[in-house]
Amino acid sequence: MCGIVGAVAQRNITPILIEGLLRLEYRGYDSAGVAVLAEGNGIQRVRAVGKVIELQNALQATPATGHLGIAHTRWATHGKPAEHNAHPHMSGKLAIVHNGIIENHSPLRKKLIELGYQFTSETDTEVVAHLIAHYYSESHDLLDAFRTALGELHGAYALALMHEDQPETLYCARMGSPLVIGQGSDEHYIGSDPLALLQVTDRFRYLEEGDHARLTINTCEIWDRDNLSVDRPLTRYEHAAHSLEKGEYRHYMLKEIFEQPQAIRDTLAGIVGDDHVLTAILGPDAETRLVDIANIHIVACGTSYHAGLVARYWIEDQAGIPCTVEVASEYRYRTVVVPDNTLLITISQSGETADTLAALRFAKDQGYLATLAICNVAGSSLVREADWRLLTHAGPEIGVASTKAFTTQLVALLWLTTALAQVRGKPADQIAANVKALKDLPAIIEQALTLEPRITTLAERFANKHHALFLGRGTHYPIAMEGALKLKEISYIHAEAYAAGELKHGPLALVDEDMPVVSVAPSDALLEKLKSNLEEVRARGGQLITFACETIDQTNDSNHEIINLPFVEGCISPILYTIPLQLLSYHVALVKGTDVDKPRNLAKSVTVE
Ligand code: G6P
Repeated sequence: MCGIVGAVAQRNITPILIEGLLRLEYRGYDSAGVAVLAEGNGIQRVRAVGKVIELQNALQATPATGHLGIAHTRWATHGKPAEHNAHPHMSGKLAIVHNGIIENHSPLRKKLIELGYQFTSETDTEVVAHLIAHYYSESHDLLDAFRTALGELHGAYALALMHEDQPETLYCARMGSPLVIGQGSDEHYIGSDPLALLQVTDRFRYLEEGDHARLTINTCEIWDRDNLSVDRPLTRYEHAAHSLEKGEYRHYMLKEIFEQPQAIRDTLAGIVGDDHVLTAILGPDAETRLVDIANIHIVACGTSYHAGLVARYWIEDQAGIPCTVEVASEYRYRTVVVPDNTLLITISQSGETADTLAALRFAKDQGYLATLAICNVAGSSLVREADWRLLTHAGPEIGVASTKAFTTQLVALLWLTTALAQVRGKPADQIAANVKALKDLPAIIEQALTLEPRITTLAERFANKHHALFLGRGTHYPIAMEGALKLKEISYIHAEAYAAGELKHGPLALVDEDMPVVSVAPSDALLEKLKSNLEEVRARGGQLITFACETIDQTNDSNHEIINLPFVEGCISPILYTIPLQLLSYHVALVKGTDVDKPRNLAKSVTVE
């Protein structure tokens, strides 16, 4: 995904811009570029396809130094990876960089061509450069031209702008893609991620949706979407959320559980609009290609497989597309019948899991319409070899037990479901509800994380247990499976998950006072059925632990502990109910004294069959 760095300072800022780009490399990109303004010299622009090192090599051949500059790493959406498509894009004496997708770029491009502007790239970004230049040619007021152009853009953007006429001023704006302003001593910076700027400052102002700003070395003016002057607080960056340090946390797993709100925000950045999803992230002709899909096969391993199982419910229910889900180690060795126009989706945190990668390679000869990788590692084999890619931005996940990778996979899959429904003309209110639910999710997860003290106490009840059952129904059945897997992986307690309706077909025989039965009970259409299943357990002396929606009328007793979660609309509920199950397995593992981050016999990335 694209990255932005910008600076206005008294010193030469080129090394700072390059260091910033290097720090954003983990996000994945295909080309990079920089534009620097040196007084008297005009804007010098250098761009290169490939890694930032290629840009550094190009800069050695054509040095660019100055005290005002913008830089970018690009992940192609509109136009193939090529130097002419790399940012910054220029229009006369103006240069811009952009993250996100401008949805109405086609009509704007047409209008600008009619006005005489010549395009040198296939990008949506160049449209913005010419649009600002056009309004500037009319008003001779750059701030005014910037605002007028922003008012015409539909979609998502983080933008940075510089102009030779104002060699001491940097402009920026944010709508749907993150952007922060970093404050140094007599210098200002911008970055799509504060990590890009930690080498020069730890003091940041976070722009809010619709904000735009004008920066000089010692002034920072910010306006909101109504052009009203606003003050965004200067905050000190406490710890690097995606750093490889454990920081204040006892284990990586706990740190990663608590990083989930931010990981979800990062995954959604630039891919959702106000009330719809921005499909162009899948490529310029994504809409047509999404419409063509008549079937979906999902293949993955471990926790990623569970994410696929949830997605099947969403995809069939909301997009009306038949969907199957299978573990990669089985799929790759059997005869697979592939109906016409089937999309293969592989899901993987690492993008290097041997069975999943082999499944993708096997699928290449099976007549699929296309292959899509949902993955957390931009440069991984899976991403490189799939036709389409949808990246999660969970940041590095160190704990072997997958947590934030799972919830961001679910976010990506719900986004994909919404995109499939959107291109099929499903009701706009349904699409808007999904988008709102996704945007609300980080705050709701923050609420769920406050349950930790209660779950810490609950975990002590598992100290002497050897077995546990997990129950759920509908989209929450795979969440029960994931809860059981987490408990197995890190506490070594034998745990099995069942669709609650299956209980009486066998596992009920296991239930006695020594068997904790953990269930997830959202307020949905299956609630009454689930309650009946729980009564079957209670009648046999089972110890019930239920994570239930706060609106459900149920009371605690000595055999039934109920922990309430906030009410949420249906589709994001499985993501919410994942959180307490992660916390439960973590705290049970602490009670058991196991090696939480490196459980015995397991590996983070299984690169052998
Ligand atoms: C290993 C990890 C699991 C993970 C699985 C699939 O077993 O321990 O946490 O879910 O691999 O990994 P992937 O990187 O493909 O998601």
